Amino acid sequence: MIKLGVLGVGDLTDKMIRGLSRDGSAAIQLLLSPRNEGKAAALAKDLDCMVMASNQDVVNDADVVLVGVRPAHLAELARQVTLKPLQPLISVVAGVSIEDLSRLFGNRDYSRVMMSYAAEINRSTVAVHPANSKGAQLFAPLGNVVNLETEREFELAMIAACMNGWFYFLIHELQQWLTQNGMPPEAARALVFSSVEDCVAYSRYKSSTPIDELGLSIATPGTYTAGGRDLLIENGGYAAWKAACDHVFNQLAPDKS
Ligand SMILES: NC(=O)c1ccc[n+]([C@@H]2O[C@H](COP(=O)([O-])OP(=O)(O)OC[C@H]3O[C@@H](n4cnc5c(N)ncnc54)[C@H](OP(=O)(O)O)[C@@H]3O)[C@@H](O)[C@H]2O)c1
Repeated sequence: MIKLGVLGVGDLTDKMIRGLSRDGSAAIQLLLSPRNEGKAAALAKDLDCMVMASNQDVVNDADVVLVGVRPAHLAELARQVTLKPLQPLISVVAGVSIEDLSRLFGNRDYSRVMMSYAAEINRSTVAVHPANSKGAQLFAPLGNVVNLETEREFELAMIAACMNGWFYFLIHELQQWLTQNGMPPEAARALVFSSVEDCVAYSRYKSSTPIDELGLSIATPGTYTAGGRDLLIENGGYAAWKAACDHVFNQLAPDKS
C-alpha cells in the first residue's frame, strides 16, 4: 500500500482522488491537505481518504507527494513544507518545469503529469514526463498513459489537454445549432457525441491511414461535406484552432515555442 499525500485539493485533484478510489486495483492510501476544507471534507465523507491537520503532516505520513496547487501558489507551498529526503514528488502544475520544481523542493525524483476531468471515471489521458516515472506507475488506473521522453513533448501535451477543454465548447456549439434548428436537445446531444465517437473509432481502426486522408475520402468533390469544409477553411475555422494552440504554447513555453 502506497501512501499518497495530496497538497492542494482542488478541481483537478478531486477528480484524480475519485478515480483512484473508484479503481479497486489501485493500492493507494490518500492523505489530503486541509485547505479548501469543504472539498477535502466531502472527499473524506464519500471515499476512504484522510484529511490531515497540516500540509507538513501530509508530507510526514506520505510515501509520495502529489502537488495540485495553481502555479501562483507553488512558492508559498514550498515555504510551508519540508519534504523528506528522496521523497518523490508528482506535479500536475501546468507550465512549471522540473528545473523550477527542483529550485523550490530540492533534488528528488520528480514526475510531471497532465490529465483531464475524465480521471474521475478512469478514462483520462495520463501524460507523463519523464517516461515511466512514478506518475505513470501510480496514475495508470486513471486512464491511458502516454509516456513523454522530453519536457518539450510534455508542454505540447498540455496543449492537447487544452484541446480536450475546447472540444466541449465545439460539441456544445454543434449541439446548439441542431437544437436551434428544431432537433430535440437529447437527440442533438446523442448525434453529436456519436459523430465524434465514430470518427475517433474509425481513425483508430484505420491506424495506418493519415487522418486527413480519411476525411478526404468522405469529403469528395461535390459532396455536402466538401462544401462545408471549404467554408470552414474560408472562414478560418481551422486557422483559429492553430492560433489558440500557438497562443497557449507561447505562454507555457515561451523559450521553446
Ligand atoms: N483543472 C484542470 O483541468 C487542469 C488541467 C491541467 C493542469 N491543471 C493544473 O492543476 C493545478 C490545479 O488546478 P485546479 O484547476 O484544480 O485548481 P484549483 O481548483 O484552484 O485547486 C488548487 C487547490 O489548491 C489549494 N491550495 C492553494 N495553496 C495551497 C497550499 N499552500 N496548501 C494546500 N492547498 C493549497 C487551493 O485552495 P484555495 O482555493 O483556498 O486557494 C485549491 O483548493 C494547476 O496548477 C493547474 O495548472 C489543471
